Amino acid sequence: MIFGRVKSLDAILATAEKKSLTRSLGAFQLTMLGIGAVIGTGIFVLTAEAAQKAGPGMMISFVIAGIVCAVAALCYAEMAAMVPVSGSAYTYSYAVMGEILAWMVGWALILEYAVAAGAVSVGWSGYMIGYLENAAGIDIPATWVLGPFDGGLINIPAMLIAGVVTWLLLIGTKESATINSILVMIKVIALITFIVLAIPVMNMENFEPFAPLGFGGISAAAASIFFAYVGFDAVSTAAEETKNPQRNMPIGLIGSLAICTIFYLLVSAGVIGSVGAQPVTNAAGIALEPGSQELTARCAELGQQAVTCSKEALAWTLREIGWPQIGNLIGLAAILALPSVILMMMFGQTRIFFVMSRDGLLPEAFSRIHPKYKTPHVITILTGIAVALFAAFFPVGQLANISNSGTLFAFAAVSIAVLLLRRTDPTRHRPFRTPLIWVTAPLSIAGCGYLLYNLDVKSQVLFAVWAILGLAVYFLYSRSRSHVGKGIIDVHEDDADMPPTSVPPMN
Ligand code: ALA
Repeated sequence: MIFGRVKSLDAILATAEKKSLTRSLGAFQLTMLGIGAVIGTGIFVLTAEAAQKAGPGMMISFVIAGIVCAVAALCYAEMAAMVPVSGSAYTYSYAVMGEILAWMVGWALILEYAVAAGAVSVGWSGYMIGYLENAAGIDIPATWVLGPFDGGLINIPAMLIAGVVTWLLLIGTKESATINSILVMIKVIALITFIVLAIPVMNMENFEPFAPLGFGGISAAAASIFFAYVGFDAVSTAAEETKNPQRNMPIGLIGSLAICTIFYLLVSAGVIGSVGAQPVTNAAGIALEPGSQELTARCAELGQQAVTCSKEALAWTLREIGWPQIGNLIGLAAILALPSVILMMMFGQTRIFFVMSRDGLLPEAFSRIHPKYKTPHVITILTGIAVALFAAFFPVGQLANISNSGTLFAFAAVSIAVLLLRRTDPTRHRPFRTPLIWVTAPLSIAGCGYLLYNLDVKSQVLFAVWAILGLAVYFLYSRSRSHVGKGIIDVHEDDADMPPTSVPPMN
């Protein structure tokens, strides 16, 4: 029976005991990793797209997406503390719902992490180009800084930043985490500066009409802006590299999410109140689709005089309210700080590939550890190449929505897993218990379904195609090589000279 291959939690924990990633991260560093992964393109770039979909009502969108993330994070925290190993949603699903569902979750996480890293690279490129134009007066032809769907050929800056981050990851977690902490500080200072300058000049009339496109618009914006919260779960993929994960994991997950939510509400209120955030419409008064050629053309007609036209919403807003130099500095901060998001996304991706390979579902070479840097170098390089390619050719909004589809699926799976495990293994020690689990987990599952339903059709179709492809890879490659399927529960490079531990096959 195809759902029969379940990896026992004890086997997962025993496997993690012996493996080779060093435990070096504490609660503060984890929270920093969380903020590093969460605050990024969502607030710096996609705020403009959310405004185009919902107008000032995007504040409600931020709240809805934040609530879905909060309930999912509470479920994640129970799992992360109980199963403090790499692999996040993939590993939890393996233990609770079996191999095939775990594979599908791992496969969806590729969308979440690698595609998101691509989206943020494109967002970074937008700020970089804006900065060069506004602060340095350098105009670079669109051909080399935009992908083909955006009217260019190839986004070279986005590819370059993906390459630099790959290198940081290759030289090791500790160094990367230290650089990450500095970049997080820059990002937080930039957002505080924005809030301090924008909130005092708010005009309450800018909040009217509050929901020009109704609740449908607010829901659609919530599904997109959900991207702004994606990443907190990347913290849990660092569990094997965390000191005292039982205590530090929940702090890292929930702490980073709470801090980010407060920032988002203040920043979006600042944008709406200071410059207004009504959707740009065509001559017939119909709001245009974000990222469409019609919107680009209309923005050109309007002389880019709307925040919804900007690719660097926060810098643009500050320039509009009379702070051009600070606007440029915010741009510079984004340029310096967005790489921390790419870093966490790619970090999460490499660790998930790493555990999937360790389980035999992906080629063994993926989990090879570099002798000097102690990082999974093969998979880091492969991930870097994939991210650079996404970044080179696709627009930011589309990448973000596709990434959201994978994330929502994984979040729903974890919420189901945490519920099931309360039933099937009620006595297991849970260092962190999700409060009101029978309310929290169903809310999380329903919330993920609601956001998935409100995503654009293109992303939904792509998600379905990706899932079918995943099933094909599983049945043609992974299933026959699975260690659980073969009855092997413990195979590592470190103990290559030791016989593997065997248990009877479980399928
Ligand atoms: N939440 C991350 C961002 O907004 C992925 O860039």
